[in-house]
Amino acid sequence: MSKITAAITGVGAYLPDYILDNFELSRMVDTSDEWIMTRIGIKTRHILKGEGLGTSYLGEHAVRDLLEKTNTDPLDVDMIICATVTPDMFFPSTANLIAHKTGLKNAFGYDMSAACSGFFFALTTASKIVESGFVKKAIVVGADKMSSIVDYEDRSTCPIFGDGAGAVLVEPNTEGLGLLDADLHSDGGGAQHLYMKAGGSAYPPTIETVQNKWHHIHQEGQAVFKAAVSNMGDVSTAIMERNRLSIDDIAYLVPHQANMRIIDATAKRIGLPADKCMINIEKFGNTTAATLPLCLWDYESRLKKGDNLILATFGGGYTWGAAYLKWAYDGGDFSR
Ligand code: UT7
Repeated sequence: MSKITAAITGVGAYLPDYILDNFELSRMVDTSDEWIMTRIGIKTRHILKGEGLGTSYLGEHAVRDLLEKTNTDPLDVDMIICATVTPDMFFPSTANLIAHKTGLKNAFGYDMSAACSGFFFALTTASKIVESGFVKKAIVVGADKMSSIVDYEDRSTCPIFGDGAGAVLVEPNTEGLGLLDADLHSDGGGAQHLYMKAGGSAYPPTIETVQNKWHHIHQEGQAVFKAAVSNMGDVSTAIMERNRLSIDDIAYLVPHQANMRIIDATAKRIGLPADKCMINIEKFGNTTAATLPLCLWDYESRLKKGDNLILATFGGGYTWGAAYLKWAYDGGDFSR
């Protein structure tokens, strides 16, 4: 019997309508389009507006897009994992809310918290569960409403982040396609450089936590920058070496979209030419758990069955990793 692997068989996405560009940002804080483009490489980011709309709204629409594109009956889905650091609320899970809104009545669901690596960690977990035979159809959502935790008075963080969601369908494969290897890492020592201090059990909300802005992202940019470049580069090289993949074997690197300079430096560290790098940070910014599925969605029509992809991620925690994924279908072929 041929070995069962787990493959991505479709990608859906959702980006809210409102676009926050650098010119609007430069009226909010002391910054400029020139500084943001040179230091980060972001021109626009999408922002979810609307009373009471949270991350499940983004995820719901990405899952609807996925179900429609792949012609999947919601009742056939067994499991949904939602990777997010901006859940609608602590409980119930955002995955459950998405499942309810999209009619996944037979699926069990839960959230995964691994910051910008959340989708990557969730994809690996879902793939291993599918490989085991325990579930047949899994949906992995990466979704974040970063605008809900960004301090729009802090010029060092507010240009970076955007809102969005991507969702993939993961199914068993017997042709040797899908997630073939993955290398995942965490280091809680990195927590001091990138965190949101309050709102959890250590510092529940009080007037003081709000006044001190502890419910917003705190980031020491340069420390995170250095850790992102070295860890994403090294783990990508390691996964290529242990799978005997040369640069010529790789169709695309799919890197977390945190900063254009981090993407460039990572590609350079691996020795990969820029045209083999998926990049959409200029349009969407850093959507945290959604960056990797939004890259796959954006480049889907260019992908061919059998293409070798290297996924690379880095985020708060610290969390990071890389995966070797063999793409399972010709992009744009939704008649499968
Ligand atoms: O996805 C999660 C992981 N996160 C990341 O990977 C982010 C990693 N870090 C970064 O991307 C970068 O460190 C930042 C984009 C956050 C900052 O860029 P930087 O080149 O490291 O700038 P810096 O923090 O060293 O600041 C340089 C200068 C400072 O001014 P002085 O002290 O030299 O006078 C800042 O105050 O740039 C100033 N600055 C700005 N100026 C104009 C910081 N933000 C801005 C701004 N506009 N928006």
